[in-house]
This record gives sequence, structure tokens and C-alpha cells, in this order.
Amino acid sequence: MLSETKEKAEMTAQIIAQQKNTVILTGAGMSTESGIPDFRSESGWWRKIDQLSIATAEAVEENYSVFHEFYSDRLSTLSECRPHEGHYCLASWEKSGLVTLLATQNVDGFHQKAGSVNVEELHGSIHRFRCHNCGEIADKEEFMRQKPCRECEGKLRPSVVLFGEMLPETAWQRSMELVEKAELVLVIGSSLQVYPVSQLPAITRGKTALINRDETSADTDFDLVMKGSAKEILQYMDNYLKNAEV
Ligand code: APR
Repeated sequence: MLSETKEKAEMTAQIIAQQKNTVILTGAGMSTESGIPDFRSESGWWRKIDQLSIATAEAVEENYSVFHEFYSDRLSTLSECRPHEGHYCLASWEKSGLVTLLATQNVDGFHQKAGSVNVEELHGSIHRFRCHNCGEIADKEEFMRQKPCRECEGKLRPSVVLFGEMLPETAWQRSMELVEKAELVLVIGSSLQVYPVSQLPAITRGKTALINRDETSADTDFDLVMKGSAKEILQYMDNYLKNAEV
């Protein structure tokens, strides 16, 4: 890790420890070191597949076999993967009362699996299923076996937010509220290209920090930018928090 990154990681850790009012906002880059591809990096999903032909309501209605193949593949990949040390660091910071909220764009549920409790899933979850037509709740097996909805024979889908769909209202309102009041908003592993979540850091009265492997178009909007691996930088900050008198 570059010494400049270490310095900024320590400055960020100091704010987290002293203010005890940090909102964490994560994206797909938080889970790549668990073996799950992100979307827009070199090896990202949307580099190989046109996102609008897969992750839209139209795809469910008009291209279901392709839609189903994509999400059932993601579910199979996910079943082979586990949260990494970085996820556990964030959960331990929550337990120590340093984190006010963890808002995530990720649908993988790894933050909760690592022990984070106060989590808002802004893009839904791939582990919940429902009928696209009537909303009737379904289970994973019914979806994986391409069963029709028990109520209306409609098509089943994971409860993820597809492009063009609204975010879950309560999760969004609560995240905006806590971000605005936070002393620090720490964004981890997101290109911040997807609206409206990309707008969240801008509404805080506090400071903003970003941990990301690649450059983003939003870098200049942040007070502190740390380039590198989420897992490595979070572990460094965690060690610093444990050892330094902050
Ligand atoms: N450590 C730090 N950063 C990483 C790592 C890592 N190990 N791996 C990838 N990254 C960074 C990449 O450099 C990239 O800028 O994470 C970012 C991920 O960006 P995207 O792939 O655009 O993912 P995200 O911002 O979460 O996408 C937002 O778009 O496709 C939709 O609904 C989907 O929630 C998703 C939303």
C-alpha cells in the first residue's frame, strides 16, 4: 500500500473513531475479493453483456430465458463465495458503535453474513423472490426451477432493483436522512455511476472519503480518496483503530 494511501486511511480512521457517526456506502467492488465480479471494471458483467437487455423489467417480460439464466448463474456463483475480512471489519466497527448505517448497492447479502445488522439494501436482494406480475412472494427453488407464480402464473424474479425501477422507499429515505447528518460518508468499491445512489455522498454535511481500486468520475468530489484494494485498506484501518490511541 502506498504511504499516501496509508496516511489517508489513518486520517479516515481517526474521523471514524472520534466522531462515531459514519455512514458506509458500498458497491460491487466491496465483493470482488470474495470472487464476485463487479459491473463496469475490465472483468465486469456489463463489459460482456448489454445491461439493458438483461437487468430491466422488459427483459423479464420479453426475454425471460436470458434474464433467468443471468440471475440463476449469479446465484450459483454466490453460493460458492464468502464474505472477506473487509466485510468483517465493517461489522466490527458497527458493533463498536462507530458506524451509524451501512447502505449498500450490493444484492449479495455479504454484509449481513459478516455480522452487520444496520444495513439498508438500496438495490434489493438476490436472496428474496417474488412474482413480477402480482408481487406474490416465492422461494429460491421455485425461481431456479422456473416455476410460474402460484397466484397468477406470472414470471418469478429475484427482488433486485432493475434499471428503470424505483428504489425501496423506506431504505432510500432512511439512507438519505442518515447520510445528511453523518460526520463522515465512506464509499467503498463503487464507480458511482448509477443514479440516485451516486448522489448520496453530495448531500452530507460531513466529510466524504472513497476507497476504490480504479479512478472514478467522482474522485474530485471527495475529501479523501484511497486507491487500492477494499480488503487491504479496511484491514489496515481496522488495525490502526485497534492499536492507535484515537
Ligand atoms: N477494491 C476496491 N475497489 C474495487 C475492487 C476492490 N477489490 N474491485 C473493484 N473495485 C472498484 C472498481 O474499480 C469500480 O470502480 O469498484 C467499482 C465497482 O463499480 P461498478 O462495477 O460500477 O459497481 P457499482 O458502483 O456497485 O454499480 C452500481 O449498477 O449495475 C448496477 O445495480 C447494479 O448495484 C449496481 C449498480
